[in-house]
Amino acid sequence: MCTFLLIICALAAVAYTFHDIVVKGKRCRSHANLHGKTVIVTGSNTGIGKTSAIDLAKRGARVILACRSKQRGEAALEEVKRVTGSDQVVFMQLDLGSLKSVRNFAETFLKTERRLDILINNAGVYMQGRTEDGFGMMFGVNHLGHFLLTNLLLERLKECGPSRVVNVSSSAHNAGKINFDCLNTHKALGVGTSTRDALQMYCDSKLCNVLFTHELAKRLHGTKVSCYALHPGAISTELQRNAGSILQVVLTSASIFFFKNAEQGCQTTLHCALQEDLEHLSGRYFSNCTVREVYAKAKDDAAAKKLWELSERMCGLA
Ligand SMILES: NC(=O)c1ccc[n+]([C@@H]2O[C@H](COP(=O)([O-])OP(=O)(O)OC[C@H]3O[C@@H](n4cnc5c(N)ncnc54)[C@H](OP(=O)(O)O)[C@@H]3O)[C@@H](O)[C@H]2O)c1
Ligand SMILES: *[C@@H]1O[C@H](CO)[C@@H](O)[C@H](O)[C@H]1NC(C)=O
Ligand SMILES: *[C@@H]1O[C@H](CO)[C@@H](O)[C@H](O)[C@H]1NC(C)=O
Repeated sequence: MCTFLLIICALAAVAYTFHDIVVKGKRCRSHANLHGKTVIVTGSNTGIGKTSAIDLAKRGARVILACRSKQRGEAALEEVKRVTGSDQVVFMQLDLGSLKSVRNFAETFLKTERRLDILINNAGVYMQGRTEDGFGMMFGVNHLGHFLLTNLLLERLKECGPSRVVNVSSSAHNAGKINFDCLNTHKALGVGTSTRDALQMYCDSKLCNVLFTHELAKRLHGTKVSCYALHPGAISTELQRNAGSILQVVLTSASIFFFKNAEQGCQTTLHCALQEDLEHLSGRYFSNCTVREVYAKAKDDAAAKKLWELSERMCGLA
C-alpha cells in the first residue's frame, strides 16, 4: 500500500515537473521598454495574438490590434485597455482573406500613424474554403495576406529602423511541401477536402511562412529591418475551432495536460520581437525562445525566391 502511494507520488512529481519545465517552456527575458514605439499584431482579438498585445501594451508600446471582426476586435480593445491601463491601444479592421482589405488597412495605417517598429504577423486559420479573391483559405490568409501586408509596410519599417518583422509559423511546417503547379493552376496549395488534405495544407502554408522569412531576410540585407519566424508551441487557443469533431476531441483532451496556455504561448513571439542583439539571426526560425535549425526545404533559396515572385504576381505587386 505504502509502495503504491509512493509510486503515485513519484508519478505526480514527474508529471508536475514535466508540465512545469517542458510544457511551459522558456520565457522571454527582455525588459525592453516600448514607450514611443508602435507595434501591429494581426489576429490579436484572441489566442496568443491577444496575450502578445497585452504584454507589449504593458511595456508602453502603441499597439494596433489588426483584426477581421469589428465586434471581436472592439471587445479585445476594451479588454486590453482594461488589463494594461494603457490608452495607446487602437483597433483597425484587417481581413487577411481579402487583398482589398489588406490595402485599405495599410493605407489607413500609413495615413494615421507615424511609426512602425514591430510588425507581428500572427493571424492564422485552420479552415477549408476560399478567400474573397479565390485563393485557398490557408494559403491566402496564413501566407498571401501577410505577404502583401508586409510589403506595403516595408518602407515605414525601414524608416523607423532598427525594426522587426515577426512571423508566427509552426513546427507543422516540417511536414509541409509547396506544389507550385497546383498554386499556379488552382491558386491553392491543394484541392482535396478531407481532414488529411486540410492538415497538409495547413502545414504547407506554415512552410510558406518560414521560406518567406528566409527570402525577406536576404532582401532586407543592409537595411535596419530584421525578421524572424517561429513556432509558438502547442497552445490551447481557438485555432482548432474549424477542425472536424474527432480532431477537436483529440486536441481538447491533449490540451489539458500537454498544451501551454496563451500567456505561456506568446513567449517566443515576444522573444523574437524584443530580445536585444538578435539581428545577426535575421531570417532564422525560433522555438521555445531559442534559434533552431530547419530542414533544407525550409531554407531552399530557389523555392523561397520562386514563392516570393509568384506571391508578388498574385497580389498585383509585380
Ligand atoms: N495554437 C497552437 O498550438 C499553435 C501552434 C503552432 C502555431 N500556431 C500559430 O499561432 C498563430 C496564432 O494562433 P492561435 O493559436 O492564437 O489561434 P486563434 O486563437 O484561432 O487566433 C487566430 C487569430 O487569427 C485571426 N484570423 C483568422 N483569420 C483571419 C483573417 N482572415 N484576417 C485577420 N485575422 C484572421 C483570428 O480572428 P477571428 O477570431 O476573427 O477568427 C484570431 O484572432 C497562428 O498563426 C497559428 O498558425 C498556433
Ligand atoms: C524549453 O527550454 C527549457 C529550458 O532550456 C527546457 O527545460 C524545456 O524542456 C524546453 N521545452 C521544450 C518544449 O522544448
Ligand atoms: C512573413 O510572412 C509574410 C508572408 O508569409 C511575408 O511577406 C514576409 O516576408 C514574412 N516575413 C517573415 C518575417 O516571414
